[in-house]
Amino acid sequence: MDPPTNLRAKIALTSMTTLRCPATARFFVDVTQEQDLVRALDWAAEQGLGTLILGGGSNLVLAGDVDGLVIRLAIPGRQWEDVSEEGATLVLGAGENWHEVVLYAAGSGYRGIENLALIPGTCGAAPVQNIGAYGVELKDTLVSVNAWDCEGRQMVTLESEACQFAYRDSVFKREPGRYLIVQVKLRLSRTRPLSLGYGDVVHYFSNVPDKAALTPLDVAEGIMAVRRRKLPDPEQIPNAGSFFKNPVVSQATWEQLKSTFPDIASYPGDTGVKLAAGWLIDQCGWKGYRNDKVGVHNHQALVLINHSNGTGKEILALAERIRADVADVYGVELEIEPRIVSG
Ligand code: EPU
Repeated sequence: MDPPTNLRAKIALTSMTTLRCPATARFFVDVTQEQDLVRALDWAAEQGLGTLILGGGSNLVLAGDVDGLVIRLAIPGRQWEDVSEEGATLVLGAGENWHEVVLYAAGSGYRGIENLALIPGTCGAAPVQNIGAYGVELKDTLVSVNAWDCEGRQMVTLESEACQFAYRDSVFKREPGRYLIVQVKLRLSRTRPLSLGYGDVVHYFSNVPDKAALTPLDVAEGIMAVRRRKLPDPEQIPNAGSFFKNPVVSQATWEQLKSTFPDIASYPGDTGVKLAAGWLIDQCGWKGYRNDKVGVHNHQALVLINHSNGTGKEILALAERIRADVADVYGVELEIEPRIVSG
């Protein structure tokens, strides 16, 4: 069969991920329509090439070159459906930029995703790790996802429940490589109360006397200010957001830790007590650490930084040192959050 339209060879991927680790793709194609995705997959299969699907590259560590076909999912589309007085459904192409969509929805008066402002990446990637911030997760508004099922070789619709969402987790993470998300549907509301209960957000809006008068756009702007204080802008300081998940421990383990470390930062989780990984890493003395290539952000120890052309392997070596220290001091195993592609 003919190669996909616009197929390119030997393409640098470095600037296509927010961590900017150097890596090259043997083949690369931008896909803007569902049918082109299927063609590209078929061509790769025919050539015996592996595939890597790329969105905004904001949750990805490239630890080597990709000896296959990289498909960047750039399918556009924003459409409103089922508009009522109460709310509306927003249908989004996988390639839409998430933060721009948040500003668009909030600016149109719709509530539900304003707390997820400034999260880098695309709409198609958002369900994979069930993006979350400041008391809100994507699963709170997600209705369904359309995806290409690589096993069944057909387009499928997965309702929210079938996506098996949990904290930074979903069926798309549990069965990697099976589903390629092409469209996401969110149910947004005109009336739902705004979610202002997370510590930093409470503090930010503490001087606002009439919170009921706040619009979703006001909240999105507040969240942006809060994030900018703590989290590095990947345009300026290459990073992949939180590099570790916040670990969940049993009540008994938490009580034991609390008696030894009374200040330990934690929140109640769905299945146990969630510890703040940033706190654990910070306490081990890693916050602000840097060598000549990579380091740890100086305002949020959960974020690893690529200061100067560090490779994915150098980032992962640093992550391993941090994991070993946290395990040593607290007996807690940290799990790396972004996807690692080892090349
Ligand atoms: N903390 C420290 N030192 C640090 C970092 C945090 O002591 O270096 C303490 C804080 O003082 C606080 C606690 O740890 O008591 C929690 O910190 P924070 O509120 O900053 O949130 P987080 O648990 O570290 C999570 C998400 C972020 C999200 C924020 C806000 C994960 C892995 N990370 O961070 O998500 O923005 O909450 O909701 O769940 C991301 O996923 O990429 C991301 C940035």
